[in-house]
Amino acid sequence: MNDYIVDESIDEEIYLPNTIDYLDIERQYKQLMFLHEAAIEQVTAKLNILKGEFQFSNDRNPISSISSRIKSKESIIYKMEKKGAPFTFSALTENVRDIAGVRVICPFIEDVYYVARMLVRQPDIEIIEVKDYIRNPKENGYRSLHLIVKNNVTFSNVSKEVTVEIQIRTIAMDFWACTEHQLRYKKDKEFSLEAQNKLKYCAELMAEADKEIQNLAGDFDLNQW
Ligand code: GTP
Ligand code: MG
Repeated sequence: MNDYIVDESIDEEIYLPNTIDYLDIERQYKQLMFLHEAAIEQVTAKLNILKGEFQFSNDRNPISSISSRIKSKESIIYKMEKKGAPFTFSALTENVRDIAGVRVICPFIEDVYYVARMLVRQPDIEIIEVKDYIRNPKENGYRSLHLIVKNNVTFSNVSKEVTVEIQIRTIAMDFWACTEHQLRYKKDKEFSLEAQNKLKYCAELMAEADKEIQNLAGDFDLNQW
């Protein structure tokens, strides 16, 4: 991690590959990835602290798991091409807001909103956009709460705002999203209408289960959010 020096040049309008000085581009790209890795580490550390605090005062865990990933170069290029964005660093950070991705899986629906509220309260996290696909599921049945945040990462001599996409969802929502992703990835083609309807039906079953489980949490007096 100490291999990179963080400086202001990252904001310059410099073209990605096929440019005059490829080595410099390579270095800038690595720096950009390093910034996003640092942001992931910071957001993950925050989440772990919130998890520990909640566990301490409520004797249970509002977070089942936390995972993260850095978007691959191929996926970044694919997205830039799809959006018709110029291959510059500024267009990259504007158009691809999920270079850094963190996923939080919670037992109960209310935990999802609890975690989101706790993140909103953090002084060095600024919420840029909230996409509530739980209250407004996607047409195919996808459910999850997405927060696009700007995280202030402090280095030895400079602070940087780095965008992170945080997906928060229940175990049931995650089960659906992961299996749907596998099916889509394996088939590498559009789902038939019948398959779409079946998947949507499964998503609704998951949502129903989530509701029942949330009600049970109430009955067991776990509602200390
Ligand atoms: P992307 O270009 O895919 O990032 O979409 P977007 O920028 O419009 O954001 P959106 O909130 O729709 O989706 C962001 C991410 O949520 C995706 O990269 C997936 O990780 C996840 N996601 C969104 N829709 C689906 C879906 O239908 N199925 C699954 N499995 N994941 C989804
Ligand atoms: Mg994405």
